[in-house]
Amino acid sequence: MEPRAPCPAAIPPMERKFHVLVGVTGSVAALKLPLLVSKLLDIPGLEVTVVTTERAKHFYSPQDVPVTLYSDADEWEMWKRRSDPVLHIDLRRWADLMLVAPLDANTLGKVASGICDNLLV
Ligand SMILES: Cc1cc2nc3c(=O)[nH]c(=O)nc-3n(C[C@H](O)[C@H](O)[C@H](O)COP(=O)(O)O)c2cc1C
Repeated sequence: MEPRAPCPAAIPPMERKFHVLVGVTGSVAALKLPLLVSKLLDIPGLEVTVVTTERAKHFYSPQDVPVTLYSDADEWEMWKRRSDPVLHIDLRRWADLMLVAPLDANTLGKVASGICDNLLV
C-alpha cells in the first residue's frame, strides 16, 4: 500500500503557505470575486482556493479567477466508491481559514438553520 501523503493541516504553518478557502454565494457582490482573490494573492504566504455556489457562477467568469475553483459537480464527480476522496472533508482539512464573501441571505439562512445541501454549506 502506498504511504499516505501527510495531511496539509498537519504541516506546521511556518513551513507552508497559509491556506485560505474563499466561499462565494449568489449576491451581485460576487462580481468582485476576481478582485478579492487577486488582492488575497498579493499577501505573501497565502494560498487561495475558491468554493462557489451555482448561483454565484452567474456573476463572474471562471477564467478571471486564477486559483482552483470547486463547485457541487466536483464533489459528486470525485466520489464513486468508498475509497474515493470526499471533497468537502479534504477542503476542511486543507483550509486554515474560511472566508465567505459575499455571503448572501439565502446561504446565511442555511447556516443559521443547519441546512447543508451544497459544497459550500
Ligand atoms: C441579479 C441578482 C442579484 C442578487 N443579489 C443578491 C444580493 O446582493 N444579496 C442576496 O442575499 N441575494 C441576492 N440575490 C438572490 C440570490 O442569488 C438567491 O437567493 C440565490 O438563491 C442564492 O443562492 P446561493 O446562496 O446558493 O448562492 C440576487 C439575485 C439576482 C438574480
